[in-house]
Amino acid sequence: MPCTVIVGAFWGDEGKGKIISYLALKDKLDFCVRTGSVNAAHTVWMEGNRYALHMVPAAFLNNECRLLIAAGANVHVKRFFEEVDLTEVKGRIGIDEKASIIEEKHSIQDKTSAHLKGLGTTGWGVGPALEERARRTAKLAKDIPELQPFLADVTTEINEGIDTGKQVLLEGTQGFMLSLFHGTYPYVTGRDTGAAAICSEAGIGPTRVDNVLIVYKAFITRVGAGPLPGEISKEEAKRRGWFETAAGTGRDRRSAPFNFDLARKNAKINGATQAAVTKLDCIFPECKGVRKFDALSKIGKDFINEVEKETGIPVVLIGTGPEALDIIDRR
Ligand code: IMP
Ligand code: MG
Repeated sequence: MPCTVIVGAFWGDEGKGKIISYLALKDKLDFCVRTGSVNAAHTVWMEGNRYALHMVPAAFLNNECRLLIAAGANVHVKRFFEEVDLTEVKGRIGIDEKASIIEEKHSIQDKTSAHLKGLGTTGWGVGPALEERARRTAKLAKDIPELQPFLADVTTEINEGIDTGKQVLLEGTQGFMLSLFHGTYPYVTGRDTGAAAICSEAGIGPTRVDNVLIVYKAFITRVGAGPLPGEISKEEAKRRGWFETAAGTGRDRRSAPFNFDLARKNAKINGATQAAVTKLDCIFPECKGVRKFDALSKIGKDFINEVEKETGIPVVLIGTGPEALDIIDRR
């Protein structure tokens, strides 16, 4: 799978960080390119340590993997340096010189806008930063003195990587239902979050992608305002063991059961070739820690089979616990 795109199926927080960290270790990724911005947190667990990454690509666990931030991404400089220290990736992380910069003033604009507050944004300032980019007054990574040692031509690096058969993973952030174009507008983020947009942000043409891996969670969550079909109450979510708080902002996540119609539609629009289903153990606790498909309970297997039947794509990875290696790999 020389070039794979990872896309979130619903409203983000599907467990993309976990899937990417597994692939980084298992598939010996050569490149991992993060898109989007600091609003998205990707959670990675390794040997009891938890990382909630807002900037550094989730493949950092693999020391051989080159970590890159896409031209279309939006860099929060302070957070970038904090995470580079935390993950000790200095020397193998690069930022495309065309990536734009998100500043403190954007966060203030985000938090003080009644409109944006009403949408329930994360408050990081991503909407205002992207507005500035569209106005063509935003700073780019190449304008920031501290970033000079990290600047890279990410687009050329990864296209040459594909030419020479290297394993390239494009790390989508947030979920397809938060897409500015295809999501639940106006309750969406400031960018398109779909597979095609992930390629566009990274600078990879559509014919160069081998796999689009869509990540589903076994139930659905969303933070912020806007529609959530089949939403259950917080009390009910707690009773079912689905209640979560956001990795980035600490807010309560709203929740709903898995939605097969949405899963099918979003697999199609993203051109998904494969699927992952995370947190199977949250809806079927007896599946916790299982690493072989045959060892799943009947009800667990039936659920996965139903996802495959409804979406028409194979479920190749199944998450059964938080650690990077708590995975059933059917590839
Ligand atoms: P913004 O992206 O901060 O402008 O927020 C817009 C909407 O997207 C809000 O409902 C946020 O809660 C949601 N959102 C943004 N990033 C994420 C994410 O990484 N996971 C889940 N929801 C997100
Ligand atoms: Mg998240």
